[in-house]
Amino acid sequence: MLIQLCYASTRKDHQELLQDLSDILTVSIRFNRLHNVYGVLYYAHNSFFQCLEGEKETVEKIFESIKKDQRHQNVTVLSKKEVDQVAFSDWSMKYVQSNRGVDLFFKAKNYEYFQPTKLNDIQVGEFIQHLLEAEEVTLSKVSADAESFNNNKGYKRGYISYI
Ligand SMILES: Cc1cc2nc3c(=O)[nH]c(=O)nc-3n(C[C@H](O)[C@H](O)[C@H](O)COP(=O)(O)O)c2cc1C
Repeated sequence: MLIQLCYASTRKDHQELLQDLSDILTVSIRFNRLHNVYGVLYYAHNSFFQCLEGEKETVEKIFESIKKDQRHQNVTVLSKKEVDQVAFSDWSMKYVQSNRGVDLFFKAKNYEYFQPTKLNDIQVGEFIQHLLEAEEVTLSKVSADAESFNNNKGYKRGYISYI
């Protein structure tokens, strides 16, 4: 049985944000590809939103280890449902960078900024559709930005677009 599980969480200070994102995406893409798991990750305003799609047991298992991950806390399931097919079939883990389109999406729902835990069931579905159509940022771009950030301590221009 295929399921789609979406949750939100709060980032905990760990390493530099870009390094964390690059590490998370590296592991996710490798593991998910091997296990036929698909999905999307969005990060902004100190919150993550992630959808995981795939075989129920596999998704539940990976979600158990994600919940224990020290890089975030307050992991809250927003929706979990059986699906006929995965929506993010093109991506082991699509990463969408913080963007104005998402800010406008939340403003239109009368939320000041990206606050995924406020979304109701229907709005979660709309947000997933929004992320499906949004531009992807590749792991190689995130990794290159992380490296350039690490090599230029204090140089934040590239960093801003991630928060
Ligand atoms: C926000 C967030 C999203 C994550 N998404 C995934 C994912 O989709 N797939 C995955 O394998 N690991 C993901 N991880 C990493 C896992 O939590 C964990 O580090 C990884 O599965 C390795 O687990 P292990 O160290 O117990 O082997 C994510 C971590 C965070 C913080």
